[in-house]
Amino acid sequence: MFEKVTGNSNRTLARSVFKLLGMGVGQHLVTPTSVVAAPQREWEDLARLDPLWGILSEKSKQFGKWDVADFFASGQAEIGALMRSCGLSAGDNGRALDFGCGAGRLSKSLRCYFGQVYGVDISEEMVRLARGYVRDCTFLLNQTDDLKLFQDNFFDFIYSSIVLQHQPTGEVARRYIAEFVRLVRPNGIVVFQMPYKLSLRYAIQPRRRLYSLFRRLGVPPDFIYNKLRLDPMRTISLPSEDIAATVSAAGGRILRSYSDNLHRRSMSYLVTKP
Ligand SMILES: C[S@@+](CC[C@H](N)C(=O)[O-])C[C@H]1O[C@@H](n2cnc3c(N)ncnc32)[C@H](O)[C@@H]1O
Repeated sequence: MFEKVTGNSNRTLARSVFKLLGMGVGQHLVTPTSVVAAPQREWEDLARLDPLWGILSEKSKQFGKWDVADFFASGQAEIGALMRSCGLSAGDNGRALDFGCGAGRLSKSLRCYFGQVYGVDISEEMVRLARGYVRDCTFLLNQTDDLKLFQDNFFDFIYSSIVLQHQPTGEVARRYIAEFVRLVRPNGIVVFQMPYKLSLRYAIQPRRRLYSLFRRLGVPPDFIYNKLRLDPMRTISLPSEDIAATVSAAGGRILRSYSDNLHRRSMSYLVTKP
């Protein structure tokens, strides 16, 4: 394993970050645990096939049609609205985590509000892209179902958008939610999003199942994606009562929950730790 990123020693922090950033693409920080190994492979495929569409899956933007400036402008709009709703102004409001940062769409805008922004992703290629697009944030690869790379109470603000819904099971999503509560400082803010119910199409996911089948048969990913028009994206939901129980068991408190437009039948939860 590797050293924790801690808040109480600049030297340890610098050493840890240097060590993490110094790793080349193709190296793994840790062997992926089995529970996140499949989604990790799927996101690695998506990150290589059509990364910006994998992140914001608008039909009209599939197959490389996202304009990069529009893509990042959408992150600016999302973070601007979020910061207004949290009563935070631009400047240095401390340390923020963008969990499931993808290509850095949200990290880039979070940096206008926080002195330090850490983006964490499960996909090496996503982390590579984020480092290329966004210069002044720290992007780290984490291929485990916990966030042990950070110490307790490390962050002032944690945001996770369109990520928990792509976990392999509800149990994995619950585990990350508990980790968010552990990592946020007392009275800090955590905001995350999760669908509370899936339509039949999302529940069955025939396109993902077929994608996995062809992949297991050894068909190259770009043929499955570009020719067969299948993709590996998985989606889950958790009912609001389940989220409330998870937050409470972890020692957090939901301040507000509201419908969002990040997925159909989706809610965002604003949480603090007393
Ligand atoms: C739909 S994208 C959203 C990216 C970013 N949050 C945004 O809105 O721009 C989901 C991202 O979460 C990452 N991801 C999925 N599961 C993850 C996990 N268990 N840990 C870290 N990152 C994960 C994927 O690699 C992908 O980059």
